[in-house]
Amino acid sequence: MSLLEDLQWRYATKKMNGQTVPQKKLEYILEAARFAPSSSGLQPYKIFVITNKNQLKQIREFSFNQSQITDCSHLLVWAAWDSYSSDRVSNVLLRTSKERGLPDSSAEAYKTMLLDLYEPLGKEWQENRCAKQAYISFGLAIAAAAEQKVDATPMEGFDNAKMDEFLGLEALGLKSVVMLPLGYRDEKEDWLVNLKKWRTPKEDFATTIS
Ligand SMILES: Cc1cc2nc3c(=O)[nH]c(=O)nc-3n(C[C@H](O)[C@H](O)[C@H](O)COP(=O)(O)O)c2cc1C
Repeated sequence: MSLLEDLQWRYATKKMNGQTVPQKKLEYILEAARFAPSSSGLQPYKIFVITNKNQLKQIREFSFNQSQITDCSHLLVWAAWDSYSSDRVSNVLLRTSKERGLPDSSAEAYKTMLLDLYEPLGKEWQENRCAKQAYISFGLAIAAAAEQKVDATPMEGFDNAKMDEFLGLEALGLKSVVMLPLGYRDEKEDWLVNLKKWRTPKEDFATTIS
């Protein structure tokens, strides 16, 4: 199947059947998320993978009671940096330089340039910027899941403050962004499974400027 066929196949599954996603498929989806591009290659986010049924039950309580959270196989939660700190930026850039056999000085100079740019913009701007990067990884995970014929529901429908508290994110300098239950569709019970997928028509979507 082509990528476009996979994207036609997928949909925001409303009812999952509790079947487990094989570990290999999970790892494939996580790798697609890890290989996402990010601004300056900083990857300012992490993914939490939750499978514990009791924890999933608790998360469902602050997620509009969405059933996919307890009927899924794995719940992926993206959590982004709450800010760009010197240490964080340094760690990534120095590691990248080392892996590429480049001198530390180039990483240091780039770090100074980035922080000079980001620091005056404030913590809220930085938090939003990091969350934007997380969404790129999220999108690739959605596509990879479709390729693996694993169903997934993109979800912003949860209480971020409660999720942050539940996962202890403040202490890690992270903020929850978005989540993705992975599993398999319940063909009989899902009201959306047979409804037509509709998107803005091509001619209204992309504007060619020549
Ligand atoms: C960022 C984001 C947040 C979403 N949040 C939810 C959600 O909380 N619950 C849900 O059932 N669907 C959620 N959706 C699914 C969208 O409603 C769905 O992707 C959209 O209607 C297009 O339909 P399709 O994904 O089935 O093609 C979300 C989608 C995105 C991209």
